[in-house]
Amino acid sequence: MFVCVLDSGIGGLAICKSLEQNFTCPFVYFADSAFCPYGDLPLDVLESRLQTLCRFWHKRGAVAIVLACNTASVLQPMLQQETDVAILPIVQPTCQQIARQGWAKVCVLATKNTVQSGVYKSCLQSVGVEAQQIACPNFVPLVESGANLQNCLPVVAKSLALVEQDCQAIVLGCTHFGLLRGAMQQVSDLPILDCNNLCLPSLQSSLCLLGLQKVGDVVQKTHQTMHFCSANGTKLCQTSGVQFKLLNV
Ligand code: DGL
Repeated sequence: MFVCVLDSGIGGLAICKSLEQNFTCPFVYFADSAFCPYGDLPLDVLESRLQTLCRFWHKRGAVAIVLACNTASVLQPMLQQETDVAILPIVQPTCQQIARQGWAKVCVLATKNTVQSGVYKSCLQSVGVEAQQIACPNFVPLVESGANLQNCLPVVAKSLALVEQDCQAIVLGCTHFGLLRGAMQQVSDLPILDCNNLCLPSLQSSLCLLGLQKVGDVVQKTHQTMHFCSANGTKLCQTSGVQFKLLNV
């Protein structure tokens, strides 16, 4: 019995780390690097790939699959229809937290697929927050390549130049984008709201509702997270410092 945390690459590692520190059960992280970037894949290809992965991890004993990926979260309703295992998305939890913080208008940076789905715009609208959306297709390859701050700056600056004047904050609507925060802070004074942090309270509640035990004074953590990928394990290790085992799925 374990929780599977899924992303196209290293973007979801931050969410996995936070969750594994708080729960006693084992975690498995899967970087679907053979299909990265998810943000540019045709949606039908991505849906069928995610169905394969959900079936694969369910069969091996996952009690929940955390979509530590906004692009995959767009397809959560379709994926959940296919399986009994809990598939936990991160977009709605992120939007609920943004609403609690009282912003009137924010600018969401996300992948092409996430922007085109309009999921952030409609979800934020339903909680009374106006949203500008900017697709940033160059950001994920930049992060996965392990580019340094200087190389990231021009690319990041070009996208942030499009942020409308009346936006009060920038929302990172892709789990990879947290790794570009340093570059963003050099070109914008706006507060940066990161889905990697905003989604956590809701994910934790969902895992508790599934009966998973939190780390506390009595129950301690005994399991090490296993990290798997579908391609390029060496590169992933170089950029993240985490050892990945190649898995044929
Ligand atoms: N990190 C993912 C997200 O939050 C996917 C990025 C990608 O592979 O395009 O959307």
